[in-house]
Amino acid sequence: MSANYRIAPSLLSANFARLGEEVDNVIAAGADWIHFDVMDNHYVPNLTIGPLVCEAIRPLTTAPIDVHLMVKPVDRIIPDFAKAGANIITFHPEASEHIDRSLALIRDHGCQAGLVFNPATPLHYMDHVMDRLDLVLLMSVNPGFGGQSFIPGTLDKLRQAREKIDAYTARTGRRILLEIDGGVKVDNIAEIARAGADTFVAGSAVFGAGQDSDAHRYDSIIAALRGELDKL
Ligand code: DX5
Ligand code: ZN
Repeated sequence: MSANYRIAPSLLSANFARLGEEVDNVIAAGADWIHFDVMDNHYVPNLTIGPLVCEAIRPLTTAPIDVHLMVKPVDRIIPDFAKAGANIITFHPEASEHIDRSLALIRDHGCQAGLVFNPATPLHYMDHVMDRLDLVLLMSVNPGFGGQSFIPGTLDKLRQAREKIDAYTARTGRRILLEIDGGVKVDNIAEIARAGADTFVAGSAVFGAGQDSDAHRYDSIIAALRGELDKL
């Protein structure tokens, strides 16, 4: 049932010269969230977009804006993204000196909070902050660039994260989403969902689709991703 799943196209692979149109078109095609990759040329070797761009796209959609911070340090920029209209803010534990404090800062600013795990980052970072987490994001590529291949070992890690989250939910009744980011395509999304993900970032798979002049160019790729999830 794809209604239990969320598809979050990553703007990283969008046409930055036409960002507003890209957001409109991908939402019209049925995207659930907008995934917003923030890179600082320090924590990751690339530089992207900041709060001003988040603020600029905010009026275009009521869909949640899912801000993925690949910046170090993280705390100074969190209030700026909250003011810019972010709904969800996630960060990498290695990029924060005080993980619990950064999570509290996000929640105090009215946003949902999440931790992001690089391929080699152990899951135990989540153990003592589950009550502050709305979302866990597993990277299935090393952060910094779109268009990389899905790292197969992530499937096993997803199953482990799913177990931790389900045990927590059974104990508390509180839901935590499990998002995957990197190399998600039509041909692997079902397998990734079966391993436990419920929220799917897709950058190049979505924004690489179709002809630039066609406002409906994302309809079929979003339908294809959702179609795979519908079969489960
Ligand atoms: C990578 C970013 C991803 C990226 C995914 O650091 O966090 O969100 O855009 O791109 P694809 O789907 O092309 O792997
Ligand atoms: Zn991302």
